[in-house]
Amino acid sequence: MQKVTIQTFKQMKADGQKISMLTAYDYTMAALLDAGGVDSILVGDSAANVMNGWSTTLPITVDQMIYHASAVVRAVQRALVVVDMPFGSYQVSVAEAVKNAVRIMKESGAGAVKIEGGETYREHISAIIDAGIPVVGHLGLTPQSVHKFGGYAIRAKEKDEAQQLKSDAAMLASIGCFALVIEKVPATLAMEVSRSLPIPVIGIGAGNCVDGQVLVGQDMLGMNDSFKPRFVRRFLNLATEITDAVSRYNNEVKAGTFPSADEQY
Ligand code: KIV
Repeated sequence: MQKVTIQTFKQMKADGQKISMLTAYDYTMAALLDAGGVDSILVGDSAANVMNGWSTTLPITVDQMIYHASAVVRAVQRALVVVDMPFGSYQVSVAEAVKNAVRIMKESGAGAVKIEGGETYREHISAIIDAGIPVVGHLGLTPQSVHKFGGYAIRAKEKDEAQQLKSDAAMLASIGCFALVIEKVPATLAMEVSRSLPIPVIGIGAGNCVDGQVLVGQDMLGMNDSFKPRFVRRFLNLATEITDAVSRYNNEVKAGTFPSADEQY
């Protein structure tokens, strides 16, 4: 089995082959996603929401990201593991950004990091790439800036913001990011960016005319009944499957029918 690398991403863009990416934050789920054949697993800072119940991604720390990422790396045989640099880990200074990116790579064993933002973080991202660390950019809706945006609404609908996004995307490709995630922007804008860049553009809520797609694993498996934005397709309704199974277990324990004679020593 050939491991997916940043060279694979490059080749897939050149061949017009779509890249599939899903998030995972633990060993068991990462093993299942890898077995399902996804090209890349993102250890997103959405772990703050999905695994820890926070309402934003802001509270998660570098140590917690490393904890999640190292579990994922231990499970994965093929997919490229990308780890989000969490809020506060790269914004303060270029030196802090490099130090934290190095820690994430060294202590998790992942293959790349992802960083939200454009021009403001050009130097920070450049320095991380210069340190030999592959970087995925992230533009459009960048959840770490939720308080600046005032919510999670679609981004870059207006001309000025769309223009800024295009110039940030070109800049990120020019300084050496090997891929770009674009979140919740008009599909036509995402298509334009994808066609203009030499690196793959992976969309989430950005339409189908990009080079790949990413979703939160728990969202596409239907594990969260209360979160269903338009861009999420549930490929399974695991919330119902799990609660049904737990209810059957509960009933059997209470009825004294579990364990059976065959299930004991
Ligand atoms: O943290 C995350 O899950 C992400 C993706 C959804 C792109 O950044």
